[in-house]
Amino acid sequence: MSRTPLPYNRKILELFRNPKNLGKMEDATVTAVAGNPSCGDMIIFYLKINDEEVIEKASFESYGCAANIATSSIVTEMIKGMNIKDAWKTSWKSVVEAVGGLPSVKFHCGILAVGALKRAIRIYYEKREVSPGWLPKELTFEEKQALEEEELAKILSNRMKDEGEK
Ligand code: FES
Repeated sequence: MSRTPLPYNRKILELFRNPKNLGKMEDATVTAVAGNPSCGDMIIFYLKINDEEVIEKASFESYGCAANIATSSIVTEMIKGMNIKDAWKTSWKSVVEAVGGLPSVKFHCGILAVGALKRAIRIYYEKREVSPGWLPKELTFEEKQALEEEELAKILSNRMKDEGEK
C-alpha cells in the first residue's frame, strides 16, 4: 500500500534535510525531554543560558518526523540571543508561521517542540529555586499537549505489551 506524501513546503523540507543546531550540547545549562521514545516522537532540547538570562546557544535532538525536526530547528534559531522571558513567549503558532505553514495533522509536532522549550525554561528556574513573576504557575497549551502525548504513548505501549503477553 502506498502512502500519499504530506504536502510539506520547501522551507520544511530544507530544514529537515539541513537542520540547524542539531545535536547534543555538552555544556548545556539545561536539558529538557518531551514526548515518548516508545513511539518515536521524542525531542530533547538543550539551552546554554548566561548570567544575564540570555540564551547563548540552543540545540536539539529529535526522534520525530520531518515537521518535528523542522520546527525544532526553527525554534532554536528563533530563541538564540533572546532573554528567557522573551523566549517564553514563543508560541506554536508563531513557529508554524516561521516554517511557512504545516499540514494540520502535523501541528502537534510543532507544539511538541515548543512544549520542550517551555519545559526547559521551567527546569532552569526550578534548578535555581526561583519563580519569576511572569512565569505562569499553570502549564501552557504546549506543555499540556506534550503531557497528553506522553500519557497517550504510555497507554499505547502498555496496551501493546499486554497484547504481546496474551
Ligand atoms: S513528531 Fe510525531 S508525527 Fe511528527
